[in-house]
Amino acid sequence: MRSRCAVVPRGEGERARKYLSERGILRKDLRISRDGDSILIPVAARGKVPYATRTAEFAPSEKRPTSYKEHVDLPRKLHPLLPSAFDIVGDVAIIKLPDELTGHASAIGKAIIGAQKSIKSVALDEGVEGEARIRKLLVIAGRKTMLTVHKENGLRLKVDPSVVYFSPRLASERARVAGQVGEGENVIDMFAGVGPFSLLVARRVKSSRIDAIDINTKAIKLLKENIELNKTANVRAHIGDASKIVPRLKGADRVIMNLPHSAHEFLKCALRVCRKGATIHLYQHITRDETDGRWGEIASKCMEAGAKVRLQRYVIVHPYSPSSGIVCYDIKIVGFTRARG
Ligand SMILES: C[S@@+](CC[C@H](N)C(=O)[O-])C[C@H]1O[C@@H](n2cnc3c(N)ncnc32)[C@H](O)[C@@H]1O
Repeated sequence: MRSRCAVVPRGEGERARKYLSERGILRKDLRISRDGDSILIPVAARGKVPYATRTAEFAPSEKRPTSYKEHVDLPRKLHPLLPSAFDIVGDVAIIKLPDELTGHASAIGKAIIGAQKSIKSVALDEGVEGEARIRKLLVIAGRKTMLTVHKENGLRLKVDPSVVYFSPRLASERARVAGQVGEGENVIDMFAGVGPFSLLVARRVKSSRIDAIDINTKAIKLLKENIELNKTANVRAHIGDASKIVPRLKGADRVIMNLPHSAHEFLKCALRVCRKGATIHLYQHITRDETDGRWGEIASKCMEAGAKVRLQRYVIVHPYSPSSGIVCYDIKIVGFTRARG
């Protein structure tokens, strides 16, 4: 594309670019080029330029805007309400909007796709519901289907966030848990989803055996595909209610219980299959003032089930809102007070 440009001696290019940018004369949509010993900086057709000018041909700039906010077509007074962050699962962006912005959802979605070339679909998050914790998502821009491949901790995970639960925010937590698994461990992932914990353990500790359970048929279908995709034959997938499947398993060295709103209800069932010395990773959704009280409750549930336990670690996985969050209790089973049946 032809444009007016400043002809700047080599060595002065960066200073000139900055000067022109600060005055709003620099054309950011075109790429700066060279002509012999001169740098050609594309500038607006008008505006005072303290260098020689001429016209030249320029290639379009490949740089995309850094924030989608700069490109949303929205009344000025609504701009401060635009969210600064959103979740990305593979090539799908999942965004929450305040009521005042829902009428502008399509424009916001289009601006996100325009700003981040890796995003192909934008969905409005209308909350998680039901036993399978599925997110209600409404596509507001881009591709209609949400099946995607999410890369995490060196794994490739097929996910469709409209039919299975998946949170990209747990990547480092999954790595933390997988990092504790020892050689030859038997691991039960009671609420496995598409398998991000199970597959990571399987990949990192090849001698481990993982039983991955989920009640959502679509999650298990994707989990099976993910086992193939990541070549992790040491993971066995089970469809069904964990409280029915776990009693059929035995000798667990580790149990992952990632169902924050109700995992504690399955503690007794998990303890029944644990060996002495096993670890349980119990995820809980808690409010800030509840933190201390909850451990007492968990420990007495374990005692009632005949297990002596010790709190090995307490981890704040991610704050949900100023008042509540998701935490993990790493629980060590030090022994049993009675035989378990
Ligand atoms: C919070 S998600 C966690 C998924 C996965 N661990 C992850 O990190 O992405 C909880 C999962 O538990 C499953 N679930 C809920 N109740 C269950 C039950 N009684 N038995 C087995 N799975 C269950 C849901 O379908 C969902 O996939």
